Amino acid sequence: GLGDVRDRLQRPLRDLRISVTDRCNFRCSYCMPREVFGQDYPYLPQSELLSFEEITRAARLFIGLGVRKLRLTGGEPLLRRHLDRLVSMLADLRTPDGQPLDLTLTTNGALLARTAARLKAAGLQRITVSLDALDDAVFRRMNDADFPVADVLAGIQAALDAGLERVKVNMVVQRGTNDHEVLPMARHFRERFGPRVSLRFIEYMDVGASNGWRMDEVVPSAELLALLQGHFPMEAVRDDVPEGETARRWRYLDGRGEVGFISSVTEAFCGDCNRARLSTEGQLYLCLFAGQGHDLRQLLRADPPLSDEHLLQAVAAVWQGRQDRYSQRRHEQTPGGSTPRRRVEMSYIGG
Ligand code: GTP
Ligand code: 5AD
Ligand code: SF4
Ligand code: SF4
Repeated sequence: GLGDVRDRLQRPLRDLRISVTDRCNFRCSYCMPREVFGQDYPYLPQSELLSFEEITRAARLFIGLGVRKLRLTGGEPLLRRHLDRLVSMLADLRTPDGQPLDLTLTTNGALLARTAARLKAAGLQRITVSLDALDDAVFRRMNDADFPVADVLAGIQAALDAGLERVKVNMVVQRGTNDHEVLPMARHFRERFGPRVSLRFIEYMDVGASNGWRMDEVVPSAELLALLQGHFPMEAVRDDVPEGETARRWRYLDGRGEVGFISSVTEAFCGDCNRARLSTEGQLYLCLFAGQGHDLRQLLRADPPLSDEHLLQAVAAVWQGRQDRYSQRRHEQTPGGSTPRRRVEMSYIGG
C-alpha cells in the first residue's frame, strides 16, 4: 500500500462502508418511502453490482491506504445472496501489520434470526441492528411493510446467542412518530441485556431527496439525554474515544451498560470524519451527503486490467482531494433548513 493518506482537511481514511444491495424489505418513510420506492422503482440489475471478488479487491486496496474498519450496509445487506461468502472473504484480509479488520454490518434485523450463526461462522465480528420502536403497531407503521417487531428482537437475540458480542441498536428518532418510544427502548435494552447491547439514538437527518425532512421533526440529542437522566442516573463515558467516533456515549451508573447519541444535525462530527462509502455499483462517495461519486467500478473492470499500484494511486488521489463536511456547513449556511440540491439516497449508499 501507500500507507496513510490524508484529505485536504488532514483527515485520514479509516472506515470503508460497503453497500451490497440497493434493495430493502422495509419501506421506512424517512429512507425509502413507498411513494418513491414503489413496484417499478429501477433498482440496479445484477450485472451492475460489484462482485464479491471486486469488493474484496477494493477493500484490500483501501486497507493499503489506511482503512481499519469495514462495514457492510445496503439497502438491507442480508438481502444480498450468499453474503456469508463475502464476509468470509473480507474476514481473511489483514492490515499491513497482520491484524484482522474490524468487520461489521448494519441490518434492519428482519432476517437476522436465520442468518446470525452463519455470519458469525463466516467471520463477522459484530453487528448493528436498526430498530425504531418496541411497540409493534408503531414499528409496523414505520417499516411500512408489516414486519413485526418480534422478528427483529429475535434477530438481536440470535446475534448474541451466535457470539456477536457488543451488539449496537440504532434508533432514528422522529418527533411525533416515535419519540414516545425512547424511554421504553432504553428501559428494555438496559434491563434485558445490560452492557451486551448499546442503544444509540440517531438524529433524523436530511439525507437523500425523498424523505421530506423537516427540522421540527429532529429531536436534539440534548433533549433525549435530559429525558433519560430524569429516569436513570448516568455519566459521560470519557475513556478512549476512538478518532472519528460518531456517537457520544453515556453510561448508566448502575452498571447496566450505556447508550450513544449520534447528533449529526445539532452537533456535526465532520471534523474527524474518516469514512468513505462504496455503493453497490462501485461508486465511491466521500460524504453521506455527496451529490456524486467517483466511478471505481470502471477502474476495477478496465480491459486490459489495471495494476493494484495504479488503482491505489487513483483512490489516494480522490481521497487527497476531499474536503466534504456537509453537516457542519448545513449548520453554518442554513440553520433550520436544508439546502435544495441533489443528494444521494441513504438506501443506495447505506448509513
Ligand atoms: P460503530 O460505532 O463503530 O459501530 O460505527 P458507526 O457509528 O460509524 O456505524 P453505524 O453504521 O452504526 O452509524 C450509525 C449512524 O450514524 C448511521 O446510520 C448514520 O445515520 C450516522 N452516520 C454514520 N456515519 C456518518 C457520517 O459520516 N456522517 C453522518 N452525517 N452521519 C453518519
Ligand atoms: N436520518 C438518520 N438516520 C437514518 N437512517 C436511514 N435514514 C436516516 C435518516 N434520514 C439510518 C437507519 C439505519 C442506518 C443505516 O441509517 O435507521 O440505522
Ligand atoms: Fe429502513 Fe434501513 Fe431499509 Fe432504509 S435501508 S428502508 S432505513 S430498513
Ligand atoms: Fe463525514 Fe459528510 Fe457525515 Fe460530515 S456529513 S461526518 S463529512 S459523511
